[in-house]
Amino acid sequence: MDVPRIRTYVEGLDRHIEGGIPKGSITLICGTAGTMKSSLAYSILYNNAVNEDLKSVYITLEQEIESLMQQMRRLGMSDHRNILLVDFRKVQAAMEKKYGDNWIRLIRGYIEEAKKGQEYDLLVIDSLNALYSLTTIRDPRRELYYLFKDLKTTGITCFLISEMSPERPVYSQYGVEDFLADGIIHLDFQKRGDVLSALERYIGIVKMRSTNHDTQYFPILYSNGRFRVFGREELELE
Ligand SMILES: Nc1ncnc2c1ncn2[C@@H]1O[C@H](COP(=O)(O)OP(=O)(O)O)[C@@H](O)[C@H]1O
Ligand SMILES: [Mg+2]
Repeated sequence: MDVPRIRTYVEGLDRHIEGGIPKGSITLICGTAGTMKSSLAYSILYNNAVNEDLKSVYITLEQEIESLMQQMRRLGMSDHRNILLVDFRKVQAAMEKKYGDNWIRLIRGYIEEAKKGQEYDLLVIDSLNALYSLTTIRDPRRELYYLFKDLKTTGITCFLISEMSPERPVYSQYGVEDFLADGIIHLDFQKRGDVLSALERYIGIVKMRSTNHDTQYFPILYSNGRFRVFGREELELE
């Protein structure tokens, strides 16, 4: 049976993952600071909004909405219809009054409320680390299990951003997220040792359930308003 999929619109990538990311799945987008995690997540929402008329929620916990929008405009993404941008710190107090200080209930409550007015197809939480810092997590294994379970029952395709520390090469803060997520996309830099010493960016599909995928890392470039990866074929042609 073919699984319905959400295209990433990263040129050259979708054909390596059977056409896209399985609908309704939860994917971690991991990488150290500056690896374009937010830009990639936003570009997936943006391109699905423009090309497929899909509706999204982007919950930011790190960056102010104005700064995020400015960054996306600079990257050539300027049509923000279909994308609801939420600064979670601004709605947190009101949500706590209603749902108490249990952070999972808060996020779930928020998504439920957002869904009342509108069905959403895609959701980004930017980032998990910032979400964790808002709350006391006593039992990460158990609490994260319920968070992922809740997200899953919404049917929304979720992208959870995980900021990696350069000192600890792990994809997520507690490690359980790796097992709970259906997919892991890793963004990385590789500093080349040559004279120009360009910082090169790479993307790797570490894990993607229900999908036959290559485990190689592809060079990735953002130019002319889109992300593009270079597979073996493209590199041989150029
Ligand atoms: N066209 C581009 N090509 C490569 N890097 C870019 C481009 N535009 C912006 N950047 C860089 O991307 C980085 C920010 O990306 P962002 O999505 O905020 O990263 P993250 O969320 O992983 O911290 C900045 O360092 C910025 O200079
Ligand atoms: Mg970011």
